[in-house]
Amino acid sequence: MPPSEKLIEQTIGKQVDSFAGLCTRLRGAVESDTVSEEQIKDLFLQTRIAYKRFEWAAEYFVPATSRLVNGPPVQEVEMPEMQVIEPAGLQVMEGFIFPKYDAQKKKELIVQLNLLKLDCDRYQTFFRNIDIFDWQVFDAAKLEVFRLITTGITGFDNPLTLKSTSETIASLESLQRVFSYFNENNMADYLERGIESAIIFCRINPDFNSFNRMEFIVRYANPVSSEITSLEEKLKIHVIRYNRLLNQDAKTLFDTGAFNVNAYAPDHSSFISDKKIALGKKLFSDPILSGTGKRSCQSCHQPARVFTDGLVKNTIIDQKGLLERNTPTLINAALQPALFYDLRVNSLEDQSLSVVQSSREMHGSMILSVKRLWKDTIYRQQFLDAFPYEDKNSIDTFEVMNAIGSYIRSLVYLNSRFDEYMRGSKSAMNADEINGFNLFMGKAKCATCHFMPLFSGVFPPRFIKMEMEVIGVPVKRGVNKIDPDEGRYGIVKVESQRHDFKIPTVRNASFTAPYMHNGVFSTLDQVIGFYNKGGGSGLGIHLENQTLPTDTLGLTAKETSDIIAFIKTLDSKIPTH
Ligand code: HEC
Ligand code: HEC
Repeated sequence: MPPSEKLIEQTIGKQVDSFAGLCTRLRGAVESDTVSEEQIKDLFLQTRIAYKRFEWAAEYFVPATSRLVNGPPVQEVEMPEMQVIEPAGLQVMEGFIFPKYDAQKKKELIVQLNLLKLDCDRYQTFFRNIDIFDWQVFDAAKLEVFRLITTGITGFDNPLTLKSTSETIASLESLQRVFSYFNENNMADYLERGIESAIIFCRINPDFNSFNRMEFIVRYANPVSSEITSLEEKLKIHVIRYNRLLNQDAKTLFDTGAFNVNAYAPDHSSFISDKKIALGKKLFSDPILSGTGKRSCQSCHQPARVFTDGLVKNTIIDQKGLLERNTPTLINAALQPALFYDLRVNSLEDQSLSVVQSSREMHGSMILSVKRLWKDTIYRQQFLDAFPYEDKNSIDTFEVMNAIGSYIRSLVYLNSRFDEYMRGSKSAMNADEINGFNLFMGKAKCATCHFMPLFSGVFPPRFIKMEMEVIGVPVKRGVNKIDPDEGRYGIVKVESQRHDFKIPTVRNASFTAPYMHNGVFSTLDQVIGFYNKGGGSGLGIHLENQTLPTDTLGLTAKETSDIIAFIKTLDSKIPTH
């Protein structure tokens, strides 16, 4: 084992001990009746800083425990067993201690601290018994930089204390220390200096609202993550590769090709190919798949409208009545581990089958369709070319689904002005748009749900889970009545999931109006107005389980218009189809 690996394991061990020690001290303080509120608050903040010192390793190597330690303070339901996971950890405790320490929560706080102690034991057992490899250290460290810029600096895990800058400093310092173990022939000097500059920037800009996130990312964080990859190459570290959404060799989150469109394909054989895409494109616009022979996917997902239809809701296929939900965009839809507003399916293949067979959408039959397609000589040849195998004498329904899925996987466009700016083109965004980005990532809290850089609920930096939230969308604009659509609750009958909806992307939101699952808002101004008042709660809708913070954001008209200007920089450049 190289010496770096042993040293890193020892360092993590000590950091976990220090975290455990602080948990014990905090428990002592909470139990004692003589310790002041200020001291409890201070100890809590120190405890979280202690966690941040090994967060890079904890999140990478022991994710399940880390979710209990620093996961969002909401109930989660694990499928398929429907196992309910109660909220626990630092974020729950933050709610007991800030803004004002609630002594009534003393018992619960102690329960939480005891649970944390068990988590520490798990960490200790884990780090004592595994071998950490150098390539994993580089991978985990780079993901930590991505974690800092996507959630760390947004207030995602410290919504009440907003101590993002000091916590970011703690994470960066520990990365600096990790790389000092790789400083053969001073090769890591440059990286260490880069991290040092990032730390200094945080030190001189401690205030949450005025912290210039764009500058931090472009001038400091992107160079650091790039240098981590370069150092790994220089040291010739052997990397083991695996199929995941964020490519392992991406130097920044904004590289062209950083995201792998095949990550959520059912298996290797269903990856995209040019022939499948061409076939899928044809099927997408062909009414041959529908029962009436009149409707295609394109009837609702129109290429000229970023694959939406501009309607509040489209009609049921026999034209009587409306569908339940607004048509979402398909641009970048492939970059989601689950689909539909209630995340009821896990792949584009399952999704197209369900739409074709839906009596309301296309009312088709896959069995009939594949027979029709095989009889058509042109389609037959295309299927033979796209899915070749010996003695092929029919079409498998999966091939139809995979061809359409491949076409949707080809609709990934991370090429907006925002992406260009992040890749170094300084003229791609103006000052208002940059201000809008900083508000989106900071004061307006948008990025605590619409996570950069996909600006959807796909949770960075692992990008394997899609978040849902309860924001309280009304049935009509301005009305204090919740939309009757139960969202995720329709799939998972657990109270906390009622009105829980997938967080859609805001990329291309200039074109996806009307907005929300029910198309209730017709402009972005209305959408932001809704958030500015605290979502449903601001309209007088009282949901026990609203997960959007109910406080008003205090955005001015200028700030709102800057956020909208920023959202418009997320428009993809889509070639005409
Ligand atoms: C009648 C209109 C209509 C037709 C036709 C239609 N869709 Fe949709 N599509 C929708 C609506 C509405 C939703 C959202 C439904 C929900 O979330 O419950 C949707 C959702 C989707 C999604 C999920 C997107 C996401 O991000 O969650 C995909 C992918 C999709 N459709 C692809 C297709 C394909 C492929 C076809 C043709 C086989 C098709 N659709 C035909 C209206 C339509
Ligand atoms: C607590 C999480 C959360 C926060 C914070 C949040 N959103 Fe959302 N956003 C959602 C969810 C969930 C939906 C879908 C709700 C639905 O369809 O009912 C959504 C939908 C949207 C949509 C509609 C997209 C479409 O094509 O229909 C836009 C635009 C949007 N949000 C912008 C913003 C902006 C701007 C902010 C900051 C001011 C923000 N969001 C803050 C969770 C959040």
